[in-house]
Amino acid sequence: MEVLIAANPASAAAHAASAVLEGLLRVKRRDTVLGLATGSSPLGLYAELGAAVARGDIDFSTTLGFALDEYIGISPSHRQSYRQTLINDACSVIGLPESNLNVPDGMGATRAAITAAADAYDAKIAAVGGIDVQILGIGSNGHVGFNEPGSSLASRTRIMRLANQTRADNARFFDGIEHVPTHCVTQGLGTLREARRLVLIATGSAKAAAVAAAIEGPLSASCPASVLQLHPDVVICLDEAAAAGLLNREYYDASALGFPVTV
Ligand code: GLP
Repeated sequence: MEVLIAANPASAAAHAASAVLEGLLRVKRRDTVLGLATGSSPLGLYAELGAAVARGDIDFSTTLGFALDEYIGISPSHRQSYRQTLINDACSVIGLPESNLNVPDGMGATRAAITAAADAYDAKIAAVGGIDVQILGIGSNGHVGFNEPGSSLASRTRIMRLANQTRADNARFFDGIEHVPTHCVTQGLGTLREARRLVLIATGSAKAAAVAAAIEGPLSASCPASVLQLHPDVVICLDEAAAAGLLNREYYDASALGFPVTV
């Protein structure tokens, strides 16, 4: 696990973009597969990736995108659906064609239909060869995707009820908390763990406790993001405020300086 602590959110976004590019540019065999996250946290990262495209460092025109999650019961064309959010915040910024974007289907008429679509989503990720780099944010309660506390560390893409704290956190995007959906479909922790590289970005003091629990707390379903501890290639990019709860800070800073070539 690599923990990079930057002076400010812009610099954290630059670190995260470098980690994403490194993970994608080493994929030689086919078009790349990028896992996309919604939320405010990755916006600077998407802007950095857009700048990399403009410089000619990378091209997402043949990249396949897979969203982490989607609300149940709001149509894909709704302005707050995660499909629309990702089209506006990610695809249009980095030049990933809308037709290459895959999002879990939360519009099935029955639980069984949504579950079948969730199973098909995992199967599609596997069929394209797996996700090369998965971008992640973190919820203030430690969720990743929409895997709320209590989620099995082996879970697959499935229906989840949103925690009250998550609905309150996301109420700012809706006309009041009563309009925030109560359920979602999210990639499971077992699903997202299969991505070849995970890049998590978190900024601001509201994330400090969740970040500390994820990195330094016990591996536990109570902090779903602690599942990152099981992954062999994780880069966590923080600003000072999000890193404020970490106890092992000196070690992360020293490690970020790299391997001494004289040894
Ligand atoms: C949302 C999303 C997560 C996201 C998190 C943090 O509910 N499902 O994927 O990482 O909450 O959002 P933000 O970055 O806006 O704080």
